[in-house]
This record gives sequence, C-alpha cells and structure tokens, in this order.
Amino acid sequence: MKALVGYYSRSGNTEKMAQAIAEGVKKAGLTVDVKNVKDIKTEDLLDYHAIILGSPTYYGQMAAEMKTLLDESVKYHGKLSGKIGGAFTSCGGIGGGAETTIIGILQAFLIHGMIILGESGAYHYGPVSIESPDADVTESCIKYGQKIATLTKKVFRE
Ligand SMILES: Cc1cc2nc3c(=O)[nH]c(=O)nc-3n(C[C@H](O)[C@H](O)[C@H](O)COP(=O)(O)O)c2cc1C
Repeated sequence: MKALVGYYSRSGNTEKMAQAIAEGVKKAGLTVDVKNVKDIKTEDLLDYHAIILGSPTYYGQMAAEMKTLLDESVKYHGKLSGKIGGAFTSCGGIGGGAETTIIGILQAFLIHGMIILGESGAYHYGPVSIESPDADVTESCIKYGQKIATLTKKVFRE
C-alpha cells in the first residue's frame, strides 16, 4: 500500500512537516513518496491509497500551487473515491487561518468521495505549525502519519 505526502513550501516549514508525516507513515508500514507539488502530476494521485497534502497558510487558504493540483484533479473525479485523505499547514501565527486552510484541502477530498480522519486530541483537523515545526509539532506530525497509515491498512486490507 502506498501513501503520497505532497506539499508546497517557499521557506521550508511545510516541507519539514511533510517529512515528519512521511516518517510516521513509514513507521506504520506503508510505502511513502514525499513530493513537492510541482513534481506531482495529476494522474499520480491515482497510484496512492492515501493522499496527504500540506500547504502554507496564505490569506487563510492553501497556496495557489496546491489549489491548481486540486482543480486539475477534476479530470479524475470519481476515481479517487474511497481513498484516505489528510491535510496539514504551517502558518504565521495563532488565529492566522490554519484551520480554514486545512479544511479547504479536506473539502476537496470530501468532494472526491475520499475518507478523512479527525483527531480528538490536539490538531482536530490535521497538524498545524506556527512557522517551523518545533519538537511537539514534529511529534504530532509523526503520529498523524501513523494514524493515517493505520486507517489505510484497515480500509485496504489485502
Ligand atoms: C503570500 C503569503 C500569505 C500569507 N498569509 C498568511 C495568513 O493568512 N496567515 C498566517 O498565519 N500566515 C500567513 N503567511 C505566513 C506563512 O503561512 C508562514 O510563514 C509559513 O510558515 C510559510 O510556510 P513555508 O515555509 O512552508 O513556505 C503568509 C505568507 C505569505 C508569503
């Protein structure tokens, strides 16, 4: 089973989160590709059981580069249904729109018919970092990756 951790990042903060999430996915036994959004072809999305996307928070939303990938994914509308989705973001500060950014990505996944996972503890919608991830956020990213991978294994029991 395969997971994609895709990200957009100008100054490296979201990329660090992507690496930590991928570490968690791998720990839980899934194959994982970590890719900058510029290296993701829309058709690549078809190859993965789980798709986790992260973007910096830009004006309370995902960056245009990530939105473009999601808009282009309409080409495969219906074909991503039943896959597992997750999202994460790095923002500039508390109340900066992190959650609206994550929800924006998750909304697209829901419209694709994908399965998303909430969290009863911290980061209900998905991991958030203020600027660069500190040790606590990095740990939360690793755990998020593990949880998504565990769910993926349950759903796609082979
Ligand atoms: C165009 C632009 C818009 C931004 N808008 C917001 C915002 O609305 N809220 C916020 O908290 N931070 C905002 N930021 C700060 C970034 O989200 C933050 O620096 C983030 O850590 C950058 O991630 P990166 O290192 O992965 O590029 C903005 C930064 C840029 C460049």
